[in-house]
Amino acid sequence: MKRLTNFGPVPGTPRAMNVAGVMSGTSADGVDVAVCRIRPGRGAGATPVVKVLEHRGFRYPKKLREAVLAAAGAQQANSSSVPELARLGWRLGSFYAECVEKTATDAGLKLDLVSMHGQTIYHQAMAEKYLGEPVRCTWQIGEPSLVAERLRVPVVSDLRPADMAAGGQGAPLVPMFDYCVLRHATRNRVLLNLGGIANLTAVPAGASLAKVLAFDTGPASMLIDQFMQSLYGKPYDRNGAAAARGQVLGEVVDQLAAKAYFAAAPPKSCGREEFGAAFTQEMIALFKDKGAGPDDIIATATALTVRTIVDAYARYCWPHLGQMAPLAKATELIVAGGGSRNRTLMKWLTSQLDTLGVSVRTIDEFGIASEAKEAAAFALLGWLSWHGLPGNVPAATGAGRSVILGRLTLC
Ligand SMILES: Nc1ncnc2c1ncn2[C@@H]1O[C@H](COP(=O)(O)OP(=O)(O)O)[C@@H](O)[C@H]1O
Ligand SMILES: [Mg+2]
Repeated sequence: MKRLTNFGPVPGTPRAMNVAGVMSGTSADGVDVAVCRIRPGRGAGATPVVKVLEHRGFRYPKKLREAVLAAAGAQQANSSSVPELARLGWRLGSFYAECVEKTATDAGLKLDLVSMHGQTIYHQAMAEKYLGEPVRCTWQIGEPSLVAERLRVPVVSDLRPADMAAGGQGAPLVPMFDYCVLRHATRNRVLLNLGGIANLTAVPAGASLAKVLAFDTGPASMLIDQFMQSLYGKPYDRNGAAAARGQVLGEVVDQLAAKAYFAAAPPKSCGREEFGAAFTQEMIALFKDKGAGPDDIIATATALTVRTIVDAYARYCWPHLGQMAPLAKATELIVAGGGSRNRTLMKWLTSQLDTLGVSVRTIDEFGIASEAKEAAAFALLGWLSWHGLPGNVPAATGAGRSVILGRLTLC
């Protein structure tokens, strides 16, 4: 990888480090910690090598999850006061510290660096007029000083704003990991993450970083989880059982799949702002007088997720990868994220993509647990920042240039 600057926190040659990546995504289900050994690649132009040494997932305690969802405006417009937001940021910081400490201690691993995403409570990729000026912004909370103090290691945090300041959407940031760790010399690879939101990265065979395409396709677990919560009082559709029992309402899927976000060309990113409570309400209105039961609603939400991923693949990835119609199995789609545990979703996705000549695999087959991938990706981003190396992929975020991401908290 080309070295763009030498004014990183530790100028000099990149070195091998144990980095804990900490991810807490839009599902607000909890925190994933992946401790990775990251070392520079060997040879000119080589990208870093990442090995996941340990991974653990921690669910947010119920009250903490409720506070996160309230702050992120999951039920309605943000209802948390400024003191509540400030307290929540510190409470999350102490929770992250505990999660990282447990993971490292239990595995007997010494850490050199922590790189944490924080919890997004607001993300607005598109400019809106505010106080007379167009404003875009993003806000992740979780006080890094508490992590640095508890672990006594430096912490990289707030990895999204630098990309946004450079004109990007601040998302997706996982493509750098996809490119470094999962690209293949002779196979097209599409890396799909099924978190609250579904996002994909298309890496053509043997491509350079400039040829990486990545964007958010739309909702994944977020929509299904919201319906499971309101219809069954459960946080998610375990193994896709409810969706498997239900009947998909094709008309509802068609109507929603026609929405502007899905057809818009990348770069694009989305979150709870687009597919949160308001979208769920709109969807509920479409079920009126159709006699749909709870399982049918879950099945339809699952089918919409699958449909929008497959549409996104056909519209934007297929042409990008240069794949010709009957070329069987020329592309591998590798799924990560909690949604990969939803068997119904995976079954429908596999069968629909099969007709397009795409074979579906999960990231677990590559030695990385599905839940660990994004945390490992943030570990890599922190490692890059520590060495003064850029972590965004401008082709994916729309940024005007490659930038060093994040803020550093020293201990
Ligand atoms: N066994 C399972 N069956 C079905 N869905 C699951 C299962 N395990 C996790 N999930 C889904 O994955 C989501 C969490 O995925 P995750 O990758 O952590 O997303 P995020 O990055 O948005 O937090 C859960 O909210 C749930 O919808
Ligand atoms: Mg999660």
